[in-house]
Amino acid sequence: MGEKVFYVTTPIYYPSDKLHIGHALTTTMADTLARYKRLRGYDVYFLTGSDEHGQKIQRKAREAGLQPLAYVDRIVATFQELWRRLNISYNDFIRTTEPRHMRVVQELLQRIYDQGDIYKSTYEGWYCTPCETFWTERQLVDGNCPDCGRPVELVKEESYFFRLSKYAERLLQYIKDHPDFILPVTRRNEMISFIEGGLEDLCISRTTFDWGIPVPMDPRHVIYVWFDALTNYISALGYGAADDHLFRKYWPAAVHLVGKDIVRFHTIIWPIILMAAGIEPPRQVFGHGWLLVDGGKMSKSKGNVVDPMVLIDRYGADAIRYFLLREMPYGADGYYSEDALINRYNTDLANDFGNLLSRTMAMIERFNGGVIDAPAASEPLDEELKAIAAEVPGEVDAALGNFEFARALAAIWRLVNRANKYIEETAPWALAKDPAKKQRLQTVLYNLAETIRQVTIMVGPFMPGVPARVWEQLGLQDTPAALSWESLAGWGGLPAGTRVRRGEPLFPRIETNAQEGEEPVTVAETPAAPTAEKATPAADRKEATVEEITIDEFARINLRVAEVLAAEKVANADKLLKLEVKVGDERRTVVAGIARYYQPEELVGKKVVIVANLKPAKLRGIVSQGMVLAAVDGETLSLVTPERAVQDGAQVR
Ligand code: MSP
Repeated sequence: MGEKVFYVTTPIYYPSDKLHIGHALTTTMADTLARYKRLRGYDVYFLTGSDEHGQKIQRKAREAGLQPLAYVDRIVATFQELWRRLNISYNDFIRTTEPRHMRVVQELLQRIYDQGDIYKSTYEGWYCTPCETFWTERQLVDGNCPDCGRPVELVKEESYFFRLSKYAERLLQYIKDHPDFILPVTRRNEMISFIEGGLEDLCISRTTFDWGIPVPMDPRHVIYVWFDALTNYISALGYGAADDHLFRKYWPAAVHLVGKDIVRFHTIIWPIILMAAGIEPPRQVFGHGWLLVDGGKMSKSKGNVVDPMVLIDRYGADAIRYFLLREMPYGADGYYSEDALINRYNTDLANDFGNLLSRTMAMIERFNGGVIDAPAASEPLDEELKAIAAEVPGEVDAALGNFEFARALAAIWRLVNRANKYIEETAPWALAKDPAKKQRLQTVLYNLAETIRQVTIMVGPFMPGVPARVWEQLGLQDTPAALSWESLAGWGGLPAGTRVRRGEPLFPRIETNAQEGEEPVTVAETPAAPTAEKATPAADRKEATVEEITIDEFARINLRVAEVLAAEKVANADKLLKLEVKVGDERRTVVAGIARYYQPEELVGKKVVIVANLKPAKLRGIVSQGMVLAAVDGETLSLVTPERAVQDGAQVR
């Protein structure tokens, strides 16, 4: 395997229905990584596809009065259309009904059978058809599927079983030896406890329906749909084929991006199938959270399924991609609402980024005849801007290396916002009035255009429609060296003398009044039968509902801005920092559990928000007179600080 090879996959989606915005999330993440790695010179292979067999699809087709293949053909076409509209740059789309896939599934099963890891017995237990999952009586929650909460069916039939249990120890060792195999770490821990709880052999064939790949040594059976589906990751690479160069090149450089509900299949069943067949396991599995809407998970029966096509029509693919990647907290669930989407759009895209471009273009045209001239001597303000620009590419790289899409975008926006502040600070309109300041003006305009160039290179993987539009305005279409990631190193990749051409606003502001009267973006379809309803699993119900309080109840909490005067570690307490803070005329001691996230030095001088009327509490012998507010996002913790300069003591409400 060459060093710079990157193989990224999405789950293959069930063509039982059209896809919704939650599905678009995984695929957008995968596409962003694929584009980013390409930009960094990797040889990338990006795979997506459709999971077309199984009882669920067979039933759906029957309900629609169609043959299964005719049924899925229609839906798969809508997947491909969605990916085209969303600018998804996959290299291959695998369908599990294709002969190239079916051959590999059969060969893999035969191989594992021949070596004695598959045996025939009788399956007696429960089956969740929507999830295509077997459950034991003990695993059910109130008699329903523990994953989706829907009713399960009793199944008793002759089946082939795969000796998962035999490989449990080996898998556990593999997971322990490879700390980055399962991310985020919370999912890794869940999987470790699941395996330690004991693995049962897996039923891998069915006889009570026939929409599947026949078991090669016993064609009365069809292969269990998850065994079939997981194999797509190697069948698409031509595993075992006469021409298997893709497999040899890309496997196992794989990152499987999946939703949290299917991490178990990818980190337990899939690696064990591969181990049994003597194939290396994938390198990484990242399990993201769900995108929830008002009312929890999207479901047809609730009528809250958000159709990404409609959103793309309304706001454009780049804005949808930006929203998904920016709004999902790392590894945890996120929320979609059209208001939140419009808010992100107007604030981050129209205001921050779009305005930076249009203001800069307008100033270069008005004050400098539309030409970006070479900068002259650098001043401290310029150095501040450049210092941030120098940090951001590394931050983006580190964040994406860890699948922290929101953090990567936040890092880029730090530069966008610094540049907006730079405009206010340098006031080019004032410089333009004084001919003696001509060189200073040119320097400022150059630095702004250079910042936009750098930002645009970095946002390209997230919003692939953006770069071409900016390059046209900046006049950089024909200067490929100025568009590469490498050109971010150092300042000044933008060739002086470039002529700009002001264009349409990148992201025209959305006037929310215009929204009134428009249909909410949900797929209005006749409610499905109650059995098709996806109930919210217990864990997510907890996350989705927070008790309502009145404004008076909220007012009882005294939130105040405090300035940190001093900070030190608390002896014998790894997590605690002792802060001396100033709240107006008052000084207080506050103990905060933030030592793992902040160094004491970096806190001094920061303005934070504290709960000032919390009953004092003694922590490690220190009386803490308040609590510091912080946002917690998976593994990240960020102190809440006022966004503009305000005096300590100021009320927060
Ligand atoms: N066919 C299987 C995957 C086989 S992969 C070898 C499957 N398909 S699915 O269509 O039901 O779901 C595919 C993916 O979409 C899963 O990763 C699931 O977590 C994800 N999502 C479904 N609804 C989602 C949200 N509301 N939010 C985020 N992801 C969502 O499972």
